[in-house]
Amino acid sequence: MSQRVLLEEVSVGYGGTSVLDSLDLDLPAGSFTALLGPSGCGKSTVLGSVAGFVVPDGGRVTTGSAPVREPGPDRGVVFQHYALFPWRTARGNVEFALKRLGLPRGERRRRALAALAEVGLAQGAEKYPAQLSGGMQQRVALARALAAEPEVLLLDEPFGALDTLTRTRMQALLRELWQRRGTTVLFVTHDIDEALALAQRVVVLGGTPGRVLADHAVPEGPPDPDLRALIARHLHSLPTG
Ligand SMILES: Nc1ncnc2c1ncn2[C@@H]1O[C@H](COP(=O)(O)OP(=O)(O)OP(=O)(O)O)[C@@H](O)[C@H]1O
Ligand SMILES: [Mg+2]
Repeated sequence: MSQRVLLEEVSVGYGGTSVLDSLDLDLPAGSFTALLGPSGCGKSTVLGSVAGFVVPDGGRVTTGSAPVREPGPDRGVVFQHYALFPWRTARGNVEFALKRLGLPRGERRRRALAALAEVGLAQGAEKYPAQLSGGMQQRVALARALAAEPEVLLLDEPFGALDTLTRTRMQALLRELWQRRGTTVLFVTHDIDEALALAQRVVVLGGTPGRVLADHAVPEGPPDPDLRALIARHLHSLPTG
């Protein structure tokens, strides 16, 4: 289950300041794209316009054949800060996200447990966020995004708060989930190595207002130092926000 994501001439401004100007981006169904760029260049704004949190001033965003107007269960979102309800268990957090699908209680429970098992957290289902490590909490957030069986998965620096080892494990888990589900993935990061480790394609965003400065296919197999150097040159030529 996956859907093409298309941004056409998308412009966004905040209070008269242009953040994105006529941005075009085409994410084929089932593709895994990393959106890389310095702080403040508009990465979260791009992701938000696909998620439906940000309404562009101009242009179009479509998933499949449907224009994006508001957030919906066809697009799962994971943020750096897991934003779990502290008073609900891991299962309760995932079930809550399924409420808007109008599923009966038993089905919500079944799907929540299946999604938690899929991210390797079957054992932690009845624990509260405070009883879980950062990596486990991020697994809950990932399960919550996956449980609704979205066509598109949008991740905004989801592993930025994790230690290196946990982060590497979460990257492997995400790759595995993507390979299994075939969901279209847009992954925002400012870490070039994370982008290259995960994605099939790296899009570099930068400038004021933000635009696509570079767009590279990432070959399968071991990391390519020449590609890394090329992308690093694009990135380091940019002012940081
Ligand atoms: N709701 C808002 N109101 C006003 N300005 C905003 C708002 N959201 C973002 N901006 C501004 O738009 C620009 C792009 O922000 P955005 O969050 O998309 O960048 P980013 O690339 O995700 O940065 P970071 O890597 O720090 O998360 C920034 O200059 C930011 O200050
Ligand atoms: Mg951001």
